[in-house]
Amino acid sequence: MSALISPSILSADFTNLERDLGKIASADYAHVDVMDNHFVPNLTIGLPVVERIQQVSPIPLDVHLMIDNPDLWAPQYAEVGAASVTFHAEAATAPIRLARELRRLGARAGMALRPATPVEPFLDVLSEIDMLLIMTVEPGFGGQSFIEGMLPKIQRARKAVGQQDLDLWIQVDGGISSSTISRAAEAGANVFVAGSAVYGADDIPAEIEALRDLANAHQH
Ligand code: DX5
Ligand code: ZN
Repeated sequence: MSALISPSILSADFTNLERDLGKIASADYAHVDVMDNHFVPNLTIGLPVVERIQQVSPIPLDVHLMIDNPDLWAPQYAEVGAASVTFHAEAATAPIRLARELRRLGARAGMALRPATPVEPFLDVLSEIDMLLIMTVEPGFGGQSFIEGMLPKIQRARKAVGQQDLDLWIQVDGGISSSTISRAAEAGANVFVAGSAVYGADDIPAEIEALRDLANAHQH
């Protein structure tokens, strides 16, 4: 499975989103962080802005919902055309029903775990989703440092995916850069979100390519 790079536009210029989406056109997905100031202590953008981003983005959207009540909100992001919609396991009331609804609407269904949430209680949900997002920082802000202690969780998740013979993507988000991506790939991740590392680079397409090459060279 080749590595997929999903730059986070949280580190883009929010007054120049169309221009900044163009800068990551060589990536696989554009990662869109939706925060509601309840599930996390930060506020970003909501459905109307994501709908416009969807209309102008050169690449598919990977929407990461850091919000309460995703059971109500997540399907609406699929309805506006997001290719992948990820809700937090801690916030969902009925994750299996929600995942099935997202798939019915034509999106890939993702489920995210905060750093302190173990994967084990969700092993029986993995067959219902397309992607498991293992947060490698506390959600809410860009530019934080990678939590090394998440590597065993990535390994355990990858092992469970193998045991169940699933075609499930494992995404990591937070603190991913050229100095951390190899270890996350070795542990078993195959989709890599990077905000500050990509948008902070002088040559953004070169940074995307470098991250992809490093991840592919250290694939599980
Ligand atoms: C944090 C967000 C991330 C963030 C990552 O809660 O979910 O997507 O943009 O930023 P970096 O790559 O700078 O850690
Ligand atoms: Zn994110």
